[in-house]
Formats: sequence, structure tokens, C-alpha cells
Amino acid sequence: MRIGIPREIHADEKRVAGVPSTVQQLIKAGFEVQVEGGAGFGAKISNGSYAQVGATVIEDTRQLWDTSDLVLKVRPPQNHPTLGHEADLLKDGGRLISFIQPATNDQLLAKLAARSATVLAMDCIPRISRAQKMDALSAMANIAGYRAVIEASYAYPHFLGGQMTAAGRIDPAKVLIIGGGVAGLAAVTAAKGLGAIVRAFDTRMAVKEQVESLGGEFLVLDFEESGEGAGGYAKVMSDAFIEAEMALFAQQAIEVDIIITTAVIPGRDAPKLITGGMIETMTQGSVIVDLAAEFGGNCVLTEPGKMIEHHGVKIIGFTDLPSRMATLSSRLYSNAVLRFIEEIGDADSFSIDHDNEVVRGALILEDGQKRWPPPEPTKPEGDPYSVDVGKRPAAEPPASESAASPAPPKDPTRIVQGIAILLGVLLVIAIGLWAPAEFLGHFTVFILACFVGWQVVWNVTPALHTPLMSVTNAISGIIILGGMLHLSADSNAAAIVLGVIAVFFATINICGGFLVTRRMLAMFRK
Ligand code: NAI
Repeated sequence: MRIGIPREIHADEKRVAGVPSTVQQLIKAGFEVQVEGGAGFGAKISNGSYAQVGATVIEDTRQLWDTSDLVLKVRPPQNHPTLGHEADLLKDGGRLISFIQPATNDQLLAKLAARSATVLAMDCIPRISRAQKMDALSAMANIAGYRAVIEASYAYPHFLGGQMTAAGRIDPAKVLIIGGGVAGLAAVTAAKGLGAIVRAFDTRMAVKEQVESLGGEFLVLDFEESGEGAGGYAKVMSDAFIEAEMALFAQQAIEVDIIITTAVIPGRDAPKLITGGMIETMTQGSVIVDLAAEFGGNCVLTEPGKMIEHHGVKIIGFTDLPSRMATLSSRLYSNAVLRFIEEIGDADSFSIDHDNEVVRGALILEDGQKRWPPPEPTKPEGDPYSVDVGKRPAAEPPASESAASPAPPKDPTRIVQGIAILLGVLLVIAIGLWAPAEFLGHFTVFILACFVGWQVVWNVTPALHTPLMSVTNAISGIIILGGMLHLSADSNAAAIVLGVIAVFFATINICGGFLVTRRMLAMFRK
């Protein structure tokens, strides 16, 4: 089976769908790979690097498409400057893996269906734990969030971090990030890393802890409406909520120097959250980066692909942020594509398995037949990744369905909590009155241990919970004392053997636990 990697023709697109390391692995898996001459130039990859790993470099674009059984691309097929539409270049019954955006690309789907094509969209791979390594959308959003901060700091005429210099004090820049999904959280990390004061807002309260663990301040709106849709998806908010959050942003616009907006609901136009009036209240020299530019923008004045200036405020609507770091983004994108192909099969076993939820989720056309949207996924319980960001749904219920609910009369969980505490107190009194004295001593130690443990865990920031777990694991190696007692006492042979085993394993537990904790804590030190 022959894979073809053409040169991307979208204006300013520098990424490529395969880099030499992934091409090499595809060849190992039994595929023949051919790459269009110059396909990697934008990502600083020469034709020779592909040839070196065993790929054929083809200069003729039409020949490359004509002779490829499976074409790998980054951008959805589009009009070629000289050869007509790329979809028409795909051979009859050919296969395509690429970003497709099927919700907004009806005409493209019709063209591909006319070629009896089988099309798999990288942007439709479900966001579930198992598919993280194939999640090209998150990989690109991560880069876009980082790059948004870099573009903002380039356009912003001050430092981002504060400084105390002989010439005077420089205050750190204040950055507001709207939308705390993948791109938003990457922006929080990057802005924080450059020393800015970072504030963030999202309709989903689940984002609060993530923002705080990255060192940002989460802005909370005094409004009774949750942004969590079914299964933790973001949902379209009511008009009243949008109005309330815009009032918050109007107040923030006066204070902050940089706004980065990333607010979107999959399958919808981006909500308009930043008005011309807000921009006019910002300090001259401030910057807005609108990541949602491609979906209409969160800011009313955004022009997709451009940087404009209004009242001394720069508004950046670049839609090619990952492409501005083409070497890295090509590597991550092509890794995701490689993992996805591995999921489908190697050169001999390459076939579409409808029972594979990852493949089925990404399947748009099969031999020209429309297969999108896929059937509703059955979301596994307790899957933190899928609960957090969820599979991108095709469409959301209309805003009217998510209208603000009046404040609930009384939270029933509070009442249950109150009853539980009362029962607990009664139980302790009963134990105190009737239990033997010896038991009371042990019981008091037990209760104190629970209380201390609870206080310790509660007061450790969520970001440090993993090292906390490993240090707890190390401490639990206290079992070593039991083993040592057996060794030193006049025990029989069996007890000594068991003691040696206990000491051996407990030592591994203790040393390993402290070693892992040390390495983890090192990651948090600057
Ligand atoms: P995501 O879906 O992970 O995150 C979007 C976040 O916005 C969610 O957390 C959601 O709760 C939040 N949100 C929705 N409505 C909101 C509202 N009214 N107010 C506040 N928050 C709201 O999306 P991801 O992957 O982080 O991408 C964000 C945006 O960046 C998308 O528009 C994506 O297309 C864009 N992007 C832009 C690139 C560029 O070059 N400009 C490159 C890659 C992504």
C-alpha cells in the first residue's frame, strides 16, 4: 500500500503531514511512502532527509496524488493554484487522512464522495484517554496557546514580567485568558512563565482548579449557571450569562494589558465577548489575541489572519499559529497521524473497523458513503480525560434550552452533610460511653490520624498531589519496622524468612518512593 504526502498549498501553511522519523516508521510497517518535492521545506526538512529514510521524492504533484492509495495532509483539500481542486486529484476509491472540519465543509465532502473516497478526519478523533496520542487537535491547540502569548509579547511594548531596576520599578503585565481549554491552559502556562499576572475565565468550573494549579487566578462570576454540558462538555450559555460575563470582561479590560481569547463551543460560531467599547477602554499599547478568529472571533473587530489596530490596541487574528512553529507542529501532527494509522492497521491489515471507537469517530466517508456524524459514543465512567474535555459534539442544544435557572431554594447535599455530621457525633458519644478503655485509646489515635491526614491532603495544592502520593507510599514502608522486629526477636526460621522478605520489599518501597518524590518535586522547582 502506497502513502503519499503532498506539499500543503494553503497560504502560509508551513506544516507537513509526515516528518522523516514518522515516514521511517511507516516504511517499517510495510508501507511505501512517497513525498512531494519541497513538502517539508516550510518545516525545515529537506527532500534528502526523506530520501535518506527510504521515501521516494516525487516532483509532479498530479503523479503523487494519482499513485497514492492513502494521502496524508494537514489542511482539508482545497483549490490548487494550477491543478483544480485537490479532492479531484485523489485517485478513485483513494483514502485520505487530514483535518477536514466536516461540520462546515459540505462541498468538500460532496467532492470527495464523488471520488468514492474513504476519508478520516484528524479533527474528529474522540478526545478519550486511549486516543490522546492521536489527538492532533489538542497538540495544535497547545502550540497555538503558547504562540499566542509569544505573539502578544512581541506586539506589547513592555516586559511581561515585573522588574526592579535602578531606573525604576516595572510592574508585571496583567494577562486575561478567556476560555480555559487546551489552548487557554497552554496560554496560562506560557504567560505565567514569562512573569505576567495571569487571570482566566471559563464557563466550566472544572477549569478553576487547573488554572490555579498553573499559578493563575480564576475569575468567578456571581451567576447561577453551569457551563458543563452533558458529560463535562462545554455548552452554549444563556444570553443572560453571556451578558454577565461581558460585564466582567468590560471591568477587566480597563485593568489588563493583554487579552487572549479562546472561547468556543465545537460546531458553533465563537461567541462575541469583547466589544469595540471595551477595546476603547484598554490602555494604548494593549494587545488582544483572538484564537477563535477562524470561527468568527471572540472580539467583534477581529479580522481573521490579520493584525489590526484600534484606539492604540493591537488585535491579532492570526489563524496559522501552529504553522508559525512548523518544525515542532509538523513533528507532533505527524506523530498523531502515525499513531492513528497504527490504530487502523499496517500495510497488510489496513481496514476500517467500525467497532473501534477511535476509527469510527474519525470516519467521515467510507467508499464515498457518508458516515459522519458517528453514533453517540458510550463514554466510560471515571475516564478523567474524556470527562474533562469530552469528545467534540457535532452540535449543541440551542441557547434557549440552557436558560439561566433561578437560584435553587436549598442545596440538598448540605442537609445530607448536616445529618451525617450529627450521626457521627452521636456515634462517638455512644462509643465513649460504652466502649472498653483500651479501645478508646486506639480509637482516639485513629480519629486523630484521620484528621491529620485529611488536613495534610487538603492543604497541599492539587498540582503537588502526585508527589504527595509517592511520598505517602514511601512512608507506608514503615512496615520495615515489623520485619526488623521479627529478625531481631527470637523468632522461628519461617518468621525470620518472612521478616527478610518484608525488609527487602519495604526497602524498595521506601527508597523508590523518596526517589520518585525527589524527581517529581524537581519538576516543580524553577
Ligand atoms: P477547547 O474546546 O479545548 O476550549 C474552549 C474553551 O472555551 C472551553 O473550555 C469552553 O468551556 C470555553 N468556553 C466556551 N464558551 C465560553 C464562554 N462564553 N466564555 C468563556 N469560556 C467559554 O478548545 P481549544 O482546543 O483550547 O481551542 C481553542 C480555540 O483555539 C479554538 O477556537 C481553536 O480553533 C483555536 N485554535 C486556533 C489556532 C490558531 O492558529 N488561531 C490554532 C489552534 C486552535
